[in-house]
Amino acid sequence: MKKVVLVTGANSGIGLALCERLLSHDSQIHLCLACRNMQRAKAAKSALLVSHPDADISLVRLDVCSIKSVFEAAEEVKRRYERLDRLYLNAGIMPNPQISLKGFMNGLFSRNVISMFATGEGLLTQQDRVTSDGLQEVFVTNLFGHFLLIRDLQPLLCQPGHVSQLVWTSSSNARRSAFSLGDFQHSQGVESYSSSKYASDLLSVSLNRHYNTRGLYSSVICPGLVMTNLTYGILPSFFWTLIMPIMWLIRLFTNTFTLTPYNGAEALFWLSTQKPEALDPRAKYHSMTSGLGNNYTLPRKMDIDEEMAEAFYEKLLQLENRVRKKLKSEEDELDAYRSYLHQIE
Ligand SMILES: NC(=O)c1ccc[n+]([C@@H]2O[C@H](COP(=O)([O-])OP(=O)(O)OC[C@H]3O[C@@H](n4cnc5c(N)ncnc54)[C@H](OP(=O)(O)O)[C@@H]3O)[C@@H](O)[C@H]2O)c1
Repeated sequence: MKKVVLVTGANSGIGLALCERLLSHDSQIHLCLACRNMQRAKAAKSALLVSHPDADISLVRLDVCSIKSVFEAAEEVKRRYERLDRLYLNAGIMPNPQISLKGFMNGLFSRNVISMFATGEGLLTQQDRVTSDGLQEVFVTNLFGHFLLIRDLQPLLCQPGHVSQLVWTSSSNARRSAFSLGDFQHSQGVESYSSSKYASDLLSVSLNRHYNTRGLYSSVICPGLVMTNLTYGILPSFFWTLIMPIMWLIRLFTNTFTLTPYNGAEALFWLSTQKPEALDPRAKYHSMTSGLGNNYTLPRKMDIDEEMAEAFYEKLLQLENRVRKKLKSEEDELDAYRSYLHQIE
């Protein structure tokens, strides 16, 4: 039976490059592209079929920012497949990014200059918004929608005698200082991206605690700095092209400037070649590109407190309970209204 691999946010950037690399490595997998925009999803599938004409690729509509869409997508996936071997939790957003000029100038003349460029520390802020489900958009897109997807796909992911793998695309911008348990959706701050990525690091650790005995393993990666739609949202593409020589130079010192989606997908791809049971649950696996352009994966210990991870997990379960109840009562109300209309017709 073919291995089934599902990638969220597969239609562009790192997700699309990952799909390309997975198919080049193993043409026998079934690849499911989970995307919110079906036109872009179809275009991605066509592009993949050009280089891999025999590839087995399907599409599923998934807007991770919408609770209803997540549940519908999970139902669809369970209807279609009997197994799910790998789930890449890759879709992500950084809405309305603003660069702090003051932070930039301070960082430029400090010892942290390279780390500032590599992690965006002190540089970036975002403007978040509340979704129609009443949740913070960045939190639900980058983390909570994916959490619900995993929870709903448990019957496929946790099968007796079978090992499955979750892989989160986190970031070096995931900083503990941006996250607080008291405001885990980050409704009060301006670093929702950083907070949501730190939340994915925490969640991965607690998922391992809760699911390893059931054959499900979770890992976290950082793709490095990659030129994609996300980075073009921070600064226009011509600006990035302009400073490319500087970035090539910085790459000699940090190797975290992976720059292309292919290089950025290195750690995601590398994990697919490893035994999930043998991976370090507390490590973040970084895509690295050397000054000479060689790719490799480097594990680094994450700054995680197990108790905090556990407390966060409990909070996510409570929130899941609340959103399921809310959705159920909305559906009940709709049903009652429909039967009322039926009666008066
Ligand atoms: N680029 C970097 O330097 C960098 C660094 C660290 C981490 N990352 C992470 O890498 C991941 C991939 O980003 P990227 O850089 O490849 O940027 P990208 O090209 O913008 O890809 C993001 C993908 O996520 C999808 N997406 C966004 N919101 C979604 C939603 N509500 N439902 C379903 N899909 C949604 C996008 O779909 P649409 O095309 O429909 O928008 C797109 O396919 C993200 O998690 C990002 O945070 C990127």
